[in-house]
Formats: sequence, structure tokens, C-alpha cells
Amino acid sequence: MEALLKVENISKEFGATKALSDVSMTVYPGEVRGLIGENGSGKSTLSNIIAGIHKMSDGKMMFLGAEYRPESVLDSRKKGISLLAQETGTIAGMTVYENMFLGEETAGGKSRFVNARRLKKATKEILAENGLAHIQPEDNVERYSFEDRKMIEVARAVWHDPQILIIDETTTALSHHGRQKIYEIIRQMKKNQKSVIFISHDLDEIMNVCDSVTVLRDGNYIDTLPHDRMNKDTIRSLMIGREFDGRYYRPDWVCTHGEQVVLKAEHIVYRNILKDVSLELHEGEILGIGGLTDSGMHELCKILFGAIRPDKGRVTYMDNTEITSPQTAMKKRIAYIPKDRDTESLFIFADIKDNIVASSYDQIKKQGFIFPKSEHELAEKTAASLQVKMRDVRQYVGELSGGNKQKVAICKWLANESQLFLMDCPTRGIDVGVKANIYLLMQELKKQGKAIIMVSEEMTELIGMSDRILILKDGECSGEFLRQDHPSEQEVIQKML
Ligand SMILES: Nc1ncnc2c1ncn2[C@@H]1O[C@H](COP(=O)(O)OP(=O)(O)OP(=O)(O)O)[C@@H](O)[C@H]1O
Ligand SMILES: [Mg+2]
Repeated sequence: MEALLKVENISKEFGATKALSDVSMTVYPGEVRGLIGENGSGKSTLSNIIAGIHKMSDGKMMFLGAEYRPESVLDSRKKGISLLAQETGTIAGMTVYENMFLGEETAGGKSRFVNARRLKKATKEILAENGLAHIQPEDNVERYSFEDRKMIEVARAVWHDPQILIIDETTTALSHHGRQKIYEIIRQMKKNQKSVIFISHDLDEIMNVCDSVTVLRDGNYIDTLPHDRMNKDTIRSLMIGREFDGRYYRPDWVCTHGEQVVLKAEHIVYRNILKDVSLELHEGEILGIGGLTDSGMHELCKILFGAIRPDKGRVTYMDNTEITSPQTAMKKRIAYIPKDRDTESLFIFADIKDNIVASSYDQIKKQGFIFPKSEHELAEKTAASLQVKMRDVRQYVGELSGGNKQKVAICKWLANESQLFLMDCPTRGIDVGVKANIYLLMQELKKQGKAIIMVSEEMTELIGMSDRILILKDGECSGEFLRQDHPSEQEVIQKML
């Protein structure tokens, strides 16, 4: 069969960082190709080169039988390749319709002047076709949730009717509904002999969605497996370059935590999102909170940190302090790792060191002074504990790969010796090897008597790690499971739907 896209011997350097070395890959019509590799292995770099965001340092690409050198993202879109970016691909400060037609405002019109009315009308139609009629074309995109903004991008990509759609780690950030929508688009593209390049750290998803998978490691091409050779152990070993020993979750099946209640939420009501939710977190406990994305669990996590105020009810720390703001929470050494780490918890234009030590000055202050050396040491030690892939701690966070940014967001709270952790989807976008590290770290924190709330959409990690699991459904607690009862995925899911 004639290849649709041929990537030949591509290399890419960012200053001193070699992101890709001599990578080749061929994609055929109707093929869904997975792309997998550890955080920082070069997946986004490769996608961004194909989509015209980055220029390759060396190599060649062929698309539809001719040499392909995209000048920009608009150019690649015009030529037939669309990208759903790993991070938000819509531009804040612009309206929905401006985002929809960015760079193409006059396309299809009779004059070279922008006709806003025509663009708004077209946007409305595109949104409606994609089940997004609740989004208004003239609103600023910032008004919408991460999920809605992603779905605007999806609608834009589909509207361009691409020959190749690249999906970079998008699905794990979406709700069940959003994911299904993307799977449906993939099926449709396949049926029309179009191709998809699909990036995910979720091996089950890769196995279900892809016809074949290409593995990258440290910017090198490792192998491409056809569907009949795809199995999780093989893929993991190819990714990390050695056998994966399979140790992952907690080995024990008992609830082990202290008596002391360290955080208490009483009768929390928030808009129509949370309807009277109460919970108690104990010292040394890992409390899992599960549910669908719109169950209210992400909002609950924000309320526990004081980042949003509930309409009714209160959150109190063990000394009876009411948590009314992130400042009070931080004074009590409460850490919050948000789901949308990029926009909510990192200074993208600062270096790794500053991001990590920003909330730890109390820890490294000596006689009232902060020495650069202590800052540096603390940042290096913490970054090493989560294997942040970086040149050194002076590198800008904005230059890190998606997963490595997330690790820095977690490091920040490890450095300041937090006592209580509110983790919203802590392993989203993190590769299997480092995931195992995070699980070990959680067990270590637990052993030290620290308490953890883990909000998660992944059944296996909720069951694998929690002493106790609370399930939220439509803003209410719909079930509770204890570790010693060894709940099955099926039982847990039943309470969510
Ligand atoms: N703009 C940039 N400037 C400097 N270095 C960069 C830049 N973009 C990426 N890199 C580096 O290139 C390497 C590959 O990063 P890339 O984003 O492609 O990884 P990835 O496989 O997508 O990882 P993840 O799973 O974490 O998203 C990393 O070492 C990263 O730090
Ligand atoms: Mg990436």
C-alpha cells in the first residue's frame, strides 16, 4: 500500500537538548498509529514537527507522495494534517469564533475583509454539529472549562477534514463523554481511509484504539509493533529499555491509618455541582475520591484547599481552623496538586528551581537569610526524587515535556514538607515508570503519617492505592469502599454511573 506520511531520519535539537535523533516512521491510509514513550522521549516534538509548529533540524517528510515542509500550523492544516495539542490549543483572550478561524478569517468569503457575522454564524453551525450548542461564538474562550476548550479544538480539527489527525495526550484529560466523542471521530476517519497518530500513556487505551504502535525512547526510534504483537509488558519494556518488574500499587489489603481526623468537610454545597457532601480524612490515610469528571469531585478538591468557597458548609483542619483560602491551607501545610497543572500551578516563564522552592523559603531559611546554594540543593534533590527530565534546575519550566511539567508541580509540594496532600489526578500524563515512583512516594508519605486525598478517574489506581474510596455521583456521595473488602472495578464503576 502507498504510504500516506513518511517521516525520514528526523532530528531535532533545542539548544543543547537533543529531542529527536534520526527518527523514521511511515503511516498508511486508514491506520491508527499509537506513539508511546516515557515523559520527554520526543512524542510531542515529533507531532509538533509534523504539524508545522517546530522546524526539524535535519531529515525529510513525504506526505501524499510529495515532499512536505509545513511552514506553520495553519499551513499543515491547509495541507491536510491537524493536531490536537497536549496543552490547551485555544488562545485565551480571544473569542470562540476567532479561535475557530484563526489565520483563516477571510477564507471562503468573497472579499479579503473579515466578516465577523459570517464567522460567528459558521462557528455556531460547527459547534452545533459537534454537540457543543451551549458554547457561544462571541464569548471569550477563557470562560469555558478545559474540557469545552478541548472540544472546541476537536470541532475545529474535524471541520478541516484532515487526512491525518494527530491526538497528543488529549483523551486522558477529558470526561467519559469527551473521550467517546474522540473515539467516534477516530472510527470515522479510519472508515474513510484517513489516518490518526495517537499519543497516550494509558496502555489499555493504546491497545484498544491503535492498529500499531511506535515506541520512542530518549528521542530514538525503538520499534513499531503491529496489533498482534502489542502487549503491555512488551510495550513497557521497549519504553524503559529493561524488563518492567510489575511492582506498582500497594501490596497490602488492609486499611491502615490513625484515629486522628486531620481534615473535615461538613455539608458542602456548591452551586448545583455539590449537594451536601461530608467527609473525614485521617492521619496516615490515603482517601480515594472517584467519579465521572462532572461528578463534582474536582470542585470538591478545590474547596478542600480553599481555592473556591462553598455556598454552604465548611472545611476544617484538625486544630479547628476553618480553611477559607489557599493561604490558610498553606499555613497548615496543605498541598494541592490541581488537574490542570499548566495553568493553575506553574510559573511557565520561571525556571525549575524557582518553581520548586517558591513555597519552601521557611524550610531553607538560615538565620533569616536564603542562600542560593540551599535553594539549588533543595530543587535538585526534589527534582531527582521524581526523575524530572531536564538539563539542570535552571531550565525554564516552559521548555519541559508535558509530563515533566507535571512532575515539577508535584515537586513544589514535596519540597515544602507538606503534611496533607490534595492530589487531583496526580498521575495523569505521567509515564508508567514514574507512575510507579509516585505510588511508592504516596506509600512513603503515608508511612510518615501524612494524609492524602487522591481524586482520580482511574479505577485501577483508586483501588490499588486507597485505604478507603468515596464515590461521587451528581454532586452526592453514592458509595464508600474499604480496602479490606477488596472492591472490584465493576462494583466501583456501578456507583459512578
Ligand atoms: N521548546 C523547547 N525548548 C527546549 N527543550 C524542549 C522544548 N520542547 C521540548 N523540549 C525537550 O525535548 C525533549 C522531548 O520533549 P517532548 O515534549 O517531545 O516529550 P514527550 O515525549 O512529549 O513527553 P510527555 O510524555 O511528557 O509529554 C524533552 O527533553 C524536552 O525538555
Ligand atoms: Mg508530550
